[in-house]
Amino acid sequence: MRKIETIHDLRSGLAPARRAGRTIGLVPTMGALHEGHRSLMRIARQQCQEVVVSIFVNPTQFGPNEDYQRYPRPAEADLACCADERVDTVFMPSVEEMYPVGETTRVAVTRLTEGLCGRFRPGHFDGVTTVVAKLFNIVQPDRAYFGQKDAQQVVVIRQMVRDLCFPLEIVTCPIIREPDGLAMSSRNMYLSPADRKQALSLSGALRWAQQTIAAGQRDVAALVAEMREQIASSGRCRIDYVEIVDADSLVPKTTITGRCLIALAVHIGPARLIDNVVVEG
Ligand code: PAF
Repeated sequence: MRKIETIHDLRSGLAPARRAGRTIGLVPTMGALHEGHRSLMRIARQQCQEVVVSIFVNPTQFGPNEDYQRYPRPAEADLACCADERVDTVFMPSVEEMYPVGETTRVAVTRLTEGLCGRFRPGHFDGVTTVVAKLFNIVQPDRAYFGQKDAQQVVVIRQMVRDLCFPLEIVTCPIIREPDGLAMSSRNMYLSPADRKQALSLSGALRWAQQTIAAGQRDVAALVAEMREQIASSGRCRIDYVEIVDADSLVPKTTITGRCLIALAVHIGPARLIDNVVVEG
């Protein structure tokens, strides 16, 4: 496995594989790698001949009062994890490499970024699409792998790929959960033992909604009210949103019909946690 820090070296490093027609898979990450990331790497490893993992804590997707400074950066452990998953290349650029002095371009997907997390994290998705577009141009992968846990991010990136004609396939990989249901996230490491226990109310509320919909409930307002109540009664927290939207267009639903995304974002202790499930109406 090779570790590369510059765009120039990454391009020349991948040139022989590209010339040989080998399929290139990209797993974009911000590091602090966990089982969720490992699952993306494993799927990429199965489907591609060359696997590139990028590790870059992207400053432009954090708001001024968010956790950019304290976001975990365990570089050595991350490299060991990539080696363990038989990654070929780890791309770990500096902020200056990705955003050189004088850069002024942003990539913005409209409409799909207005609701859900976009409402509470202004500018977040512009940062995501800008850095992902740069990574696509730098690596030029055949496939790129993203986790369904960031459901809105996947919808937004798919739209960007369509709109900007990026010649690659987006592969969405399932959410990986702890045995007790908590969705894996780099931000789980901010949770105290008590916070972590309380955080189970998120996957618990989603599971309840899934079961209640399977039993015939179709009324979105009633489902959302009960989920909010379950989460709020678990302890001190701040709910950004609990919403049910169309899984592709992200337009809010009033009744459960078609593929619906049930998504939530909740602050527990120092962590802002997101989770979701997709149900069929
Ligand atoms: O999902 C993430 O970790 C980030 O948003 C991504 C896609 C690596 C862009 O910085």
